[in-house]
Order: sequence, then C-alpha cells, then structure tokens
Amino acid sequence: MAPAQTLTYLAQEKTLESSFVREEDERPKVAYNNFSNEIPIISLDGIDDAGGRRAEICNKIVEACENWGIFQVVDHGVDSKLISEMTRFAKGFFDLPPEEKLRFDMSGGKKGGFIVSSHLQGEAVKDWRELVTYFSYPIRQRDYSRWPDKPEGWKEVTEQYSEKLMNLACKLLEVLSEAMGLEKDALTKACVDMDQKVVINYYPKCPQPDLTLGLKRHTDPGTITLLLQDQVGGLQATKDNGKTWITVQPVEGAFVVNLGDHGHYLSNGRFKNADHQAVVNSNYSRLSIATFQNPAPDATVYPLKIRDGEKSVMEEPITFAEMYRRKMSKDLEIARMKKLAK
Ligand code: SIN
Ligand code: FE2
Repeated sequence: MAPAQTLTYLAQEKTLESSFVREEDERPKVAYNNFSNEIPIISLDGIDDAGGRRAEICNKIVEACENWGIFQVVDHGVDSKLISEMTRFAKGFFDLPPEEKLRFDMSGGKKGGFIVSSHLQGEAVKDWRELVTYFSYPIRQRDYSRWPDKPEGWKEVTEQYSEKLMNLACKLLEVLSEAMGLEKDALTKACVDMDQKVVINYYPKCPQPDLTLGLKRHTDPGTITLLLQDQVGGLQATKDNGKTWITVQPVEGAFVVNLGDHGHYLSNGRFKNADHQAVVNSNYSRLSIATFQNPAPDATVYPLKIRDGEKSVMEEPITFAEMYRRKMSKDLEIARMKKLAK
C-alpha cells in the first residue's frame, strides 16, 4: 500500500481491487458514452420576463419534473467564465499530490473535506470516486478551515459560484411553487434556512469499469440538486419506472437539475425524485460538481399541497433530519440483507 492511498494510485493497477466489485445486478447496463438525448434540455432565456416566454419555460420545467425529476438547463444566467474557473479550481485540487488532499481528510467524521471511495456505512462495496465537499450555506455556519485552500484563490471563486447557484436553485423552486398553486417562495420557506453543500466528484480512469460504479444508484435526499459535469459522460438516470438506464448527454455549460426526496414529498409525489448513478470508464477521468440545496435539519417534511382526491404520500410530518435518518437506516438494512444473502 502506498503511504497516502488515493484512487489515482489504485487506477494504475491492471485489475480492479475486489472491494470495488459490485454484485451482477448493480453493475452498469449501459456504457458511459452511449448518450441519450431523452432528458429534456430547457433554455431559461426569458424566464424573468413576466408575460413573455416565462409561462412556456415554466410549463417545460413542470412537465420535466412530473415526467422525469431530472432535466438540463441552459441559458441559466450563470456566467460561463465563472463556470470554467470553478471547473479549473476543482480539477486543480484533484491534481494536487495525495498528501495535500489528505490534509483535508474527513474520514474521522469531520464536516467537510476530502475523502476517498466513500461508501455507505455497513456496505462492503466501495464507490470508484474521490470527493471534496464543503458547506456553503447558511453563511454563518461556514467553516473555512474545512474548505480547500489550494489552488490559491479557491475561496473567492467557490463563494461566487455558491451564491449564483443558490439564486438559480431558488428561481427553479419559485416555478415549482407556483405550479403547485402556492406563493412563489413556498418551497424556499419550507426549507426554513436553506442549506447548500457542494460536492466535487473525481472519478479516475478505472481498470475494469464494467464491474463497478463511480456512485451507486440513489435519490438525493434534499430539495433540488444542480450538477455541473464535464464532457466525458457517466451520469445515468432511469426510465420505464426504473427498469431502463440511460446515460445523460453532457451539454457544455449546462446544469443537470434533479429533484430530491424533500422536493418529492413536498409536492406530494407529483414531482419525481430521480434515481441516478454514475458509471466510470477506462479511457478518461471524469469530474462533476454537485450543488445540493437542502432544507434546514429541523425543517418539516410534509406535502405543502394535497390535491383533491389525493392522499398524502407521508403518514405524518417529520423533520428533515429524521427523514434523512430513516433513509439511511433503510439503505443500511438493504445492504445488510444483501450481505446475509451472499
Ligand atoms: C451525484 O449524484 O451526486 C453525482 C453524479 C455524477 O457525478 O454524475
Ligand atoms: Fe446524486
């Protein structure tokens, strides 16, 4: 074992270390570069012009949330220079020597930092990814000691990026609130004091990509996620009620938007919480930057609107912290059952 073990080191091996090998049913079914253009791509140009294109754009967003729970947005107003700067810094971090990245090691349960091959507690199989994460909202809770400090200038660029993405997420939540027949700010208010967490994923080239996943199938727990991905490809979503996988076509400068469990519950199941995963490949490393917009831990999770003739998808109101705890224990139970069945 190398002294500072990162995935980049394991990626030089000819075969995949057994701790990354997944059961047959979890392995990729579709290649990382077999792109599908089925996921809607929506231009937000004109979204602020009341009476103009706004209604048409909003309809497209609502339709995408009802049918897919995942879509891409272009002309979103986030400056392309800022996007390329953010990408450059993110790449720059992963290009640092292992000991520099491991200065931010968060494996001891620290809030924010760098981690290799994170995987569900209690689950034997690891994901083929490294990540660095930091908590950006609420601002008063920022702990800059857990934010990377290299490459130099990181803080300024990531702060700007966080602010722009917070604005974009709120704009999308306004559209969904209105579609539910509620005040514009209903969904953001339901988040109480919206949290934002940024996770930068780095998936090195993998010696046997057909046997593993960069990130296992999941739904995001929060309200809405904005993902910036490079041009390699690897993000996959499902269709036909989860039976078929498709690889999302990378679109330069676009954000992939997906709704999480919180968004799904608040809409009483009307908006889907998209199942997704990331596959890897042996040709290219891949980078993605996920910005998670989550409610505050003590925010209430319960449908904001139950339409006539519908029943609530939740038995009782619970806090987001409790919703998250239940989700994790369910996942752990599934992992435990799988282990027992071996
Ligand atoms: C994620 O689900 O958070 C990341 C997916 C990706 O890297 O494409
Ligand atoms: Fe995700």
